[in-house]
Amino acid sequence: MAKYVFNAWYAVATSEDVRAELLSRTLLEESIVLFRTEDGIVRALIDRCTHRFAPLSQGRLCADRVVCPYHGMEYDWSGKCVRIPGQDRIPAQARVKSFPVLERYGLIFVWMGDPDLADPALLVDISQYSSPQWGISRCYSKFGCNWRLITDNLIDPAHTTFVHQRTIGNDAGADIPLNSELIGEGTVSCGRWINNSAPVPIVKRFANPAGNVDRWQFYYVRAPATCWVDFGCLPTGTEHTAEEQAHAPYRVISYAFLTPINESATHYFSFQLRNVAAKDVVVTQEFERLYLATFEEDRVLLEQIQRAEDANPNLKPMYIASDSGVARLRRLVDKQLQEQ
Ligand code: FES
Ligand SMILES: [Fe+2]
Repeated sequence: MAKYVFNAWYAVATSEDVRAELLSRTLLEESIVLFRTEDGIVRALIDRCTHRFAPLSQGRLCADRVVCPYHGMEYDWSGKCVRIPGQDRIPAQARVKSFPVLERYGLIFVWMGDPDLADPALLVDISQYSSPQWGISRCYSKFGCNWRLITDNLIDPAHTTFVHQRTIGNDAGADIPLNSELIGEGTVSCGRWINNSAPVPIVKRFANPAGNVDRWQFYYVRAPATCWVDFGCLPTGTEHTAEEQAHAPYRVISYAFLTPINESATHYFSFQLRNVAAKDVVVTQEFERLYLATFEEDRVLLEQIQRAEDANPNLKPMYIASDSGVARLRRLVDKQLQEQ
């Protein structure tokens, strides 16, 4: 089975990271060089000169051309060589691979698979993004573990009760069953309502409801590795309808775009859309701190699990009732890995 799903959009940088200079990033075990040409568009080429394989990212960007640091061969943004110092003829094979790029949601997405399949419509559509009712906070982490340990974690609401008591969890959810389902062809959801319980710390901090709440936590993963968590609460007794959820006193939809660097390291780009204090810069900073701290709790645990798996390659996980989302997602991604 392949290690990665190649035909997918993968986040590799924030929009701010990519300027009119060369930036190296690694994904799916391939190094690429990113840069912004004078028209403002982000480009991606393989980070390896055709001549003697010097990393192009160590060279310079000059009038939209990437100049190799070793013998000065120059490539345009499409990867075609346009100058070889000391000779006039440019052979047809003097071309580096380029990759489709999409800039959206303040992130740069790259498509490493078949370029003919790189349809922008395949990136998740986020209707709340850019709406003035929703504030946005952002974080980035690098996890020292396989990407599939993180997708397991992000289709698994059960762990919040035990791992995230300081922010998004409390004891109330421990024994409440989860429902998972396959949505369309490529998305798994897993979630539940936790009714008539005390608000979790982050809700207390930002919405401070007067009494108990009915809290929902619905986790989604669009295979292979686009994840979001819809999390919010209603005063206990309110009907559980989409209409009420749209006007909830507290709701956060947290997106995570996971990008395998290699088998044991993963880029974790994330942002949270919140319906409280949308314009408040201090609240944005506090969200960034809180969510980064929450992801750190996951990172520490998942890296320990990775070490346990590495030391015991024959281990097989034992499934329990709360794993229905994990099992569904594993089957779906295995299928993608086998069929590509
Ligand atoms: S390695 Fe790039 S020009 Fe020689
Ligand atoms: Fe978590």
